[in-house]
Order: sequence, then structure tokens, then C-alpha cells
Amino acid sequence: METKIRIALQKKGRLNEDSMKLFKEAGIKFSVGSGKLVASSASFPIEVLFLRDDDIPQTVADGVADIGIVGENEMYEKGFDVDVVRKLGFGKCRLSLAIPKALEYEGLKWFEGKKIATSYPNILKDYFSKKGINADIHEIAGSVEIAPGIGLADAIFDIVSSGSTLVANRLKEVDVAMHSEAVLIAKKGLEPEKQELLDQLLFRLNAVQAASSNKYVLLNAPNDKVDDIVKILPGMKSPTVLPLADKGWSSIHSVISEKEFWDVIDKLKANGAQGILIIPIEKMIL
Ligand code: PRP
Ligand code: ZN
Repeated sequence: METKIRIALQKKGRLNEDSMKLFKEAGIKFSVGSGKLVASSASFPIEVLFLRDDDIPQTVADGVADIGIVGENEMYEKGFDVDVVRKLGFGKCRLSLAIPKALEYEGLKWFEGKKIATSYPNILKDYFSKKGINADIHEIAGSVEIAPGIGLADAIFDIVSSGSTLVANRLKEVDVAMHSEAVLIAKKGLEPEKQELLDQLLFRLNAVQAASSNKYVLLNAPNDKVDDIVKILPGMKSPTVLPLADKGWSSIHSVISEKEFWDVIDKLKANGAQGILIIPIEKMIL
């Protein structure tokens, strides 16, 4: 029988959609029946288990799944021993302390002796012990944000992403304990055949991630400006310079990263570049 790698993904929620998109871009399609908890793929030897995100770290640590995608928040909270293979760049959020909007706040000392509702008691316990704060940490499973309003707690410690949940509940974020994003995790001591499949998977994910964080740029420049412009453009090796039919002009092609994008474009214009075209890259093999 063919070896398959088994991955645990969030069934629904903030990481599900981005995880599915990542696999689709990597050429891996799943056939998921409605309500089904398992899916397989015709285009890659992989099997998916759809789970609650809270259950993913243990499922991978126990080897029920070989790999998984989960938020760092969930992974640290559960504390299971797994390998973090890769940060995935989506599902970004922070774990923050928030208090009722109307109250004054002068610093972490505010929390001394207070009752705090959270679904992340372990992370909060570690954070407070590092900061020397003694508080009453009250674990609740969901809807943490309503706890202060109904008199169940003085404050909350929860995931903040857009911040709209806090606004809707008249709370204000006063301290960030940790930043989190989606990570690919693997069980310790993966079997060699599965490690090989993981490597193939990573090769595809790398190509997708590199492509989405880079753009292909084409521009025209007078020949006497080419040297200056080439210095601005890093490129995968060095930029391609081609003569245009119009004598005295060249066409320059290169790859620039999303991070430095606007900065580089401004410099190109300032150095005489014209007709700048920016093209998305489908896949990038490094
Ligand atoms: C988290 C958190 C808040 C919300 C914050 O819940 O508990 O309710 O997201 O996001 P916002 O700042 O964009 O409003 P999530 O949707 O992850 O569900 P869960 O608590 O059931 O895991
Ligand atoms: Zn959750």
C-alpha cells in the first residue's frame, strides 16, 4: 500500500480557509464531502483529518496525525512536544489582556489580585509569573469577551485579531503577552517515508510562499541610467537587461519582494525608470 502522510487541519474557523487555499495553490486538492471529517487527495499522497483547533497539538504529538496546522497560541497553551516545521504567515493574531473601556489603566500592576477570564490559562500563568503578578485566573471555554460585562471577571486574556470583538464588548486592549500565527507542526521522529513526503510538501509550500511574497517587475530605462537602476534591483541573481528597438533604451526585468516593494518603486522612478509593469508570480522555484 502507498504511504500517505496524514495532516490535522482546523475543521472550521480562522485557520481553515487559509490552510485550504495554501494546499490548493500547492496543487493539492481534497475531495471533502459535506460534514466529512476525513478527506484524501488524488494529486498527492496525503490524508486530512478535520478537527477542532484545540485538539490538533495532541493529535500530532500522539502520532494520530503526522503533521498539522495550528496557531502558535494553541500549541504553546497545550504544551505538547512537537516539532515546529514552518511559520505559515497567516492567522496572525495576538494574545492580549483587555479591561473594561471606562476603567483607568496604569500598568500590569492593575491585574494584581484581579479575576481574569481566559481560554489560555497556561500562557497567562507563565506571563504573569514572569512579570511578578498574582491574579485569579479563571478558565472558560468560549465567549471569554462577555465575562466582564456579566460580572464573571474583572478582565480577559484572549485572542485579538481585528479588535472588533473587544470594541463590541466595550473592552480595551492594554497589554500584549504574545504574538501568534499559523505554524506547520510535525510529530517527533517522523518515519523516513513520511519525512520524504513532508519534504516534497515543503518544496511545494516554499514555491507558493516565495511567489506570493515576490513580484516580477519590468521597466524601461535610458541606457545611461541602467547601472543606477540595476543597483536598486536585487533580483534572484541579477536583473536581466535587454536592448529595446528604440536605440538608447533598455528593458530591465527583475524580482522584488513585497516588503520592499513601494520603497523600490519610488527609487526606480526617481532614477529615470519608465513604463514600470508589476506582474504577480504564479510559482517560484528557488
Ligand atoms: C477569537 C477570540 C475573539 C475573536 C477576536 O475567537 O476568542 O472572540 O477571535 O477576533 P477579532 O479581534 O478579529 O474580533 P475565534 O474566532 O478564534 O474562535 P474560538 O475562540 O472559538 O477559537
Ligand atoms: Zn479555538
